[in-house]
Amino acid sequence: MTNSSLILHYFSHHRLSFKTFFFIPTTLALVTTLFVLFYISSTSHLLHFNHHHTHIVSVSRKKTPPGSPLFPDSGHSVSKYHRPLVDLSKRSGGGGRNASQRSAGVELGSNGNCMNNTKVFHDRDIFREDYKWMNRSFRIYIYPHKRNDSFANVLLPVDFEPRGNYASESYFKKVLMKSHFVTKDPTEADLFFLPFSIARLRHDPRIGSPGIQNFIRDYIVNISRKYPYWNRTDGADHFYVACHSIGRSAMEKAWEVKLNAIQVVCSSSYFLSGYIAHKDASLPQIWPRQTDPPNLVPSKRKKLAFFAGSINSPVREKLLQFWRNDSEIYAHFGRLTTPYADELLGSKFCLHVKGFEVNTARIADSLYYGCVPVIIANHYDLPFADILNWKSFSVVVATLDIPLLKKILKGISSDRYLLLQHNVLKVRKHFQWHLFPVDYDAFYMVMYELWLRRSSLRLQLSPSSDSS
Ligand SMILES: *[C@@H]1O[C@H](CO)[C@@H](O)[C@H](O)[C@H]1NC(C)=O
Ligand SMILES: *[C@@H]1O[C@H](CO)[C@@H](O)[C@H](O)[C@H]1NC(C)=O
Ligand SMILES: *[C@@H]1O[C@H](CO)[C@@H](O)[C@H](O)[C@H]1NC(C)=O
Ligand SMILES: *[C@@H]1O[C@H](CO)[C@@H](O)[C@H](O)[C@H]1NC(C)=O
Ligand SMILES: *[C@@H]1O[C@H](CO)[C@@H](O)[C@H](O)[C@H]1NC(C)=O
Ligand SMILES: *[C@@H]1O[C@H](CO)[C@@H](O)[C@H](O)[C@H]1NC(C)=O
Ligand SMILES: *[C@@H]1O[C@H](CO)[C@@H](O)[C@H](O)[C@H]1NC(C)=O
Repeated sequence: MTNSSLILHYFSHHRLSFKTFFFIPTTLALVTTLFVLFYISSTSHLLHFNHHHTHIVSVSRKKTPPGSPLFPDSGHSVSKYHRPLVDLSKRSGGGGRNASQRSAGVELGSNGNCMNNTKVFHDRDIFREDYKWMNRSFRIYIYPHKRNDSFANVLLPVDFEPRGNYASESYFKKVLMKSHFVTKDPTEADLFFLPFSIARLRHDPRIGSPGIQNFIRDYIVNISRKYPYWNRTDGADHFYVACHSIGRSAMEKAWEVKLNAIQVVCSSSYFLSGYIAHKDASLPQIWPRQTDPPNLVPSKRKKLAFFAGSINSPVREKLLQFWRNDSEIYAHFGRLTTPYADELLGSKFCLHVKGFEVNTARIADSLYYGCVPVIIANHYDLPFADILNWKSFSVVVATLDIPLLKKILKGISSDRYLLLQHNVLKVRKHFQWHLFPVDYDAFYMVMYELWLRRSSLRLQLSPSSDSS
């Protein structure tokens, strides 16, 4: 305001004494000044809004809904917060593209196939740029536990190579603990990791499935007494990782974990009360394989579609009912007599059908063997959907449409199929674990999902909460 009153002073003082031709430049200067002032005030308003929004975000995080661009016009101020102003305008333009271009990417065809969905990433450039930033700056504090802790088996990483159906949980912890994201300094941490393992608790005879809820409750009480970090946000900047579906009920006696913390879980259904979409994140269920994925030209894939599994859900019953004896859709129930790998390599499409849970390892299996996954699991919040455009490498079919399955799959043109299959080969690296992580593998992708959900500002609930 000092500037503007100076100008006004100059203006009022000099206008009368100068000749009229000075009036025009002076007015122009004044108008420009007012314009600049208006710009500054509106910009600072914007920044205030961002501060405010970031505040809110630290309590209830927002994330991009699947299928929409990575950075919609609202709800991404967390990411913008640290950025220079230049980047703000770039971001709000959606990486330089306009709204009509962005919506063109998500139009659906009549059978739910998005014919224009050719790109694997919602926005590759933004992902690459943010990934580098995440890789440089993201810091995780892990609650420390000693080797002689009586629950070291549950709290420390396993000392063998994780395997089996729920390996994702153990892999994540093992890789995280050796990674450059870990900090010993809690003041520089973006997020706090709760290192308990649901899978290990389940198998610990002192705990077992019935004891998990009490254990989690006690663990949270313990860390909230011993450290100031939990109380600061009531857990909102904490996360845990679990793949077994028992993790869903494990938080029943620790409601703040369920309501506030970031749950990175395999059983990620929009339909279940334990999972809070947009706050929590989907962890891919991956059967670990160490060798390089095999390759097979698409023309060698003779079968239209393949499924193998037990009948443990109404959805699978429906599949059985319609496609049991089909000559093109091979649906095997019970023990498979041929090698699983050969079936996945010999089929164009591989079916992922909801069983007890929306998730199984079948999606990652299909991707590994270069088979286009067909996802029949309503309400599945698909892994990495913030980043990856699932319509570009999979076919999502509603349970209701199981009778139309053959029609839908045959309705996919060979060009479209080649594109889907080509994209499968592109995305499969994101669905692989490595003991020594490789850029863009499952570990880094989960880190990125966490980074999207981090809080950049922490509320100080009370002055005393930071003492001790
Ligand atoms: C958005 O971009 C498209 C394609 O470049 C163009 O046709 C359209 O007019 C643009 N729309 C706006 C609102 O700028
Ligand atoms: C893809 O989009 C273009 C316009 O952007 C349209 O002309 C074309 O028909 C679309 N293709 C399909 C297969 O829907
Ligand atoms: C991420 O960080 C790791 C460890 O510092 C480094 O080896 C890797 O090259 C980085 N990746 C990218 C894409 O920056
Ligand atoms: C665990 O080891 C530490 C030293 O590393 C020791 O101070 C502590 O008393 C031990 N705790 C138990 C329960 O044995
Ligand atoms: C909580 O702390 C108590 C006392 O130190 C300990 O006996 C108990 O094992 C801890 N429980 C958990 C789940 O960490
Ligand atoms: C956190 O809050 C709990 C419950 O209100 C309290 O028992 C605990 O002492 C607090 N922790 C710290 C470090 O102040
Ligand atoms: C499939 O074949 C079995 C015998 O091989 C027969 O009992 C059954 O009715 C057939 N199911 C369908 C849906 O055609």
